[in-house]
Amino acid sequence: MANNIQAIRGMHDVLPEQTPLWQFAETIIREVLGAYGYSEIRLPIVEKTELFKRSIGEVTDIVEKEMYTFDDRNGDSLTLRPEGTAGCLRACLEHGLLHNQVHRLWYYGPMYRHERPQKGRYRQFFQLGVETYGMAGPDIDAELILIMERLWKKLGIRDKVRLQLNSLGTIAERMVYRDSLVSYFQGHLEQLDEDSLRRLETNPLRILDTKNPAMREVVANAPELMNYLGDDSLEHFNAITTILNDLGISYELNSRLVRGLDYYSKTVFEWVTDELGSQGTVCAGGRYDGLIEQLGGKPNHAVGFAMGIERLLALVETLDAVPLKSSVDVYMIRVGEIAEQQGLRFAEAIRNDIPGLKLQVNCGGGSFKSQFKKADKSGAEFALILGDDEVSRGEVSIKPLRNAEQPQQQLSQQQAIEFLQINVQGRPNG
Ligand code: HAM
Repeated sequence: MANNIQAIRGMHDVLPEQTPLWQFAETIIREVLGAYGYSEIRLPIVEKTELFKRSIGEVTDIVEKEMYTFDDRNGDSLTLRPEGTAGCLRACLEHGLLHNQVHRLWYYGPMYRHERPQKGRYRQFFQLGVETYGMAGPDIDAELILIMERLWKKLGIRDKVRLQLNSLGTIAERMVYRDSLVSYFQGHLEQLDEDSLRRLETNPLRILDTKNPAMREVVANAPELMNYLGDDSLEHFNAITTILNDLGISYELNSRLVRGLDYYSKTVFEWVTDELGSQGTVCAGGRYDGLIEQLGGKPNHAVGFAMGIERLLALVETLDAVPLKSSVDVYMIRVGEIAEQQGLRFAEAIRNDIPGLKLQVNCGGGSFKSQFKKADKSGAEFALILGDDEVSRGEVSIKPLRNAEQPQQQLSQQQAIEFLQINVQGRPNG
């Protein structure tokens, strides 16, 4: 037997039975971002490798170990985007969008990281990314948090996530902190694991992010970055917490929150959950003013976040009832030659008269019984039944499929259209 070709490990199909959940979340995402006046930007999936090295940082897990990098036919080194912040900023710089302008943008699509796949961690995963430019904050930092908060509420998962907040200060402040952190850990070398010993040389702040329980104590006693922040960074951070307090948005201060990408300064945040096991960060981001100059722009301001859609949906799936709509409202059964012929015409008339109605016509024949089974399986609310006799009288039967108390009715075709206009729930203009 021939070997069937399978999908790449860590890259998943979204099957038709799963797409309603995706569409449900995507609709809410669009609505919420629209409510804050954000515009969509669409970006390439492949970028020059150099872009990610320069922005995410040479000594990060993503750049060192996780990128899908290849030489194209011209010999240029290209990479499948592991995240969207770098590409979004590259596009805005390239098209001159940052010159004396303010932007509020979002993008949505697949990202690629060669991580070890497990529940909630994939090699292809989807992100909603939101990036803003030209605003020094702290009001825009807070606006982003409000957007996320509204999204959780609309999706019904507000009580499943917690906001963690920290400030990484400026690069200069972080350098001073880095030195004290290195001397502290050098005094406790025997308590560091192999990974942390390596990070001590390359990226010591990342040691704070360790998941190793054996290192909990040594990390807990390490110096705190907050004590190294200058007046401006502290003022910015305090202003954000004041806005959040004012709006009644709860948060936890987490001085160990350092993020796995190098471009951040000042505000960083993560929304975490206890319901998804070890991959509990659903959404994360922060301010990255410095990256603009690093990529060749003039000094400016940037802050944003990205949300992992698979993790978001896994959280939505923990709800008792997910409010999903079937992709079919009405299923048309056609039994007999005349019914088959007339049915398609009648279906077109219904679609003309009821925009937004999802009408599926049985194709490929079959007995009444087998068509009826398909109608039931389609998830439709009503079956329209056309037999030769009915059609020759200009009539049709309507059978409710989800409500046993509603009777089946024989109506004229015009009455049937009126019935569907009134009775199909959730039609966009119904
Ligand atoms: P990140 O923390 O690398 O940040 O990723 C953001 C979110 O993407 C994570 O919190 C998680 O939900 C999801 N995610 C990351 N890796 C995976 C994976 N392998 N499988 C499934 N989900 C994953 C960024 O990407 C930044 N660009 C965020 C940002 C935007 N900062 C400023 N603007």
